[in-house]
Amino acid sequence: MRRVVCPGSFDPVTNGHIDIIGRAARQYDEVVAAVLTNVNKRGLFSVEEKVDMLRECTADVGNITISQFSGLLVDFCRENDIGAIIRSLRSVSDFDYELQIAQMNYRLAGVETLFMTANPQYSFLSSSLVREIAQYGGDVSSLVTPYVEQRLRDKYESRES
Ligand code: PNS
Repeated sequence: MRRVVCPGSFDPVTNGHIDIIGRAARQYDEVVAAVLTNVNKRGLFSVEEKVDMLRECTADVGNITISQFSGLLVDFCRENDIGAIIRSLRSVSDFDYELQIAQMNYRLAGVETLFMTANPQYSFLSSSLVREIAQYGGDVSSLVTPYVEQRLRDKYESRES
């Protein structure tokens, strides 16, 4: 069983994330999309909301499971018998950052990191930009699924009221 993890903040999951998770699912037996529970950084969405959106967006693919983790990613990998981490590269600056993390994760626990190049149609896309656009009422319909778009609308409307 070749099980890999696609870790992230997923605040919220974007079409770029879904593209990577789906492509990974075609290459490996099982893909675990794992949401970081970051005690130091409060996101727009709760971990439960992020997990819910990921479940909805990946519901039609059988070999994807959604999970959450806190602490070190390599510990999560060890506990769940995961041999490799999948990370997306959108740009050279992503590579600069990811290389160091990947090498440290390998040093810590021998866990491999496999890089997938982002689909060029999503190379400019990030959750933080999606949040900013949605916050000011901009159109994010080509950047996230309709379900996530609605969750963003609900979130910002409830914050205004
Ligand atoms: O979506 P993001 O924010 O780019 O994902 C970053 C993530 C969750 C993959 C990264 O922050 C992470 O693995 N955090 C867990 C703590 C950890 O293991 N850090 C690496 C130490 S070398």
